[in-house]
Amino acid sequence: MKTLIAANWKMHGNLDWVQKPAEFRALFPQNHDTIDILLCPPAHMLAPMTRAAAACNIAIGAQNCHDQVSGAFTGEMSAEMVAETGARYVILGHSERRALFGDTDAWIAAKTRAAQMAGLIPIICVGESQAQRAAGQAEEVVAEQLAKSIPTDADGDNLVIAYEPVWAIGTGLTPTIEDIAIIHDHIRGCLTTRFGAKTADKIQILYGGSVKPENAKAILALKDVAGALIGGAGLEMKSLAAIAAASEQA
Ligand code: 13P
Repeated sequence: MKTLIAANWKMHGNLDWVQKPAEFRALFPQNHDTIDILLCPPAHMLAPMTRAAAACNIAIGAQNCHDQVSGAFTGEMSAEMVAETGARYVILGHSERRALFGDTDAWIAAKTRAAQMAGLIPIICVGESQAQRAAGQAEEVVAEQLAKSIPTDADGDNLVIAYEPVWAIGTGLTPTIEDIAIIHDHIRGCLTTRFGAKTADKIQILYGGSVKPENAKAILALKDVAGALIGGAGLEMKSLAAIAAASEQA
């Protein structure tokens, strides 16, 4: 399985950042066989970024989309509109969207369906809070999010899952390597129940939450970790390239 190294830029950057794909490639020359690189910039950069990234064999993704094709939804962007920019992926159900913008499991499922119909690959984010982990509910929470956020008619061949424990995002904290392995194995099990082993085994499960060049190798060496969804460390091409290099070593 290919490794997917994805940077979620959140609400950072400006149009000068169209140079970042070239900057990344200068630091980390092409390696298509084993690694895919994905940058997810804010919406206003999507179209220019897809043009700049194509030459560098880097994919571009959005950070959200709406479930409806069009309509009176001020401030929103449909999956078709995202696809029209040239983007190939869309992050859905990030914990910041769940916490701050009302993304529920049901809405994430509807967005996932819309994204797949538009030809995009959704990256569905799941993960427990600090309190849920302390209460020993991490596996249960993740299983429920997966059950409800993946639509019943989802195409398992065009789907990525990201495990992002909420308490690990932007905090410098990470679960232990063992705990990451346990949850990823659990996610694989949930996907197997849903899609069958043949399809589930091909679904990339990313880890996200304080991934840095220093911890990337150990995390990416895990059997069921097929990549990383990176926040802070993905804003600097130097650290993103170091994470990609660590993934090659892993
Ligand atoms: P950090 O890597 O900054 O912890 O953010 C992770 C994240 O939210 C990626 O989607």
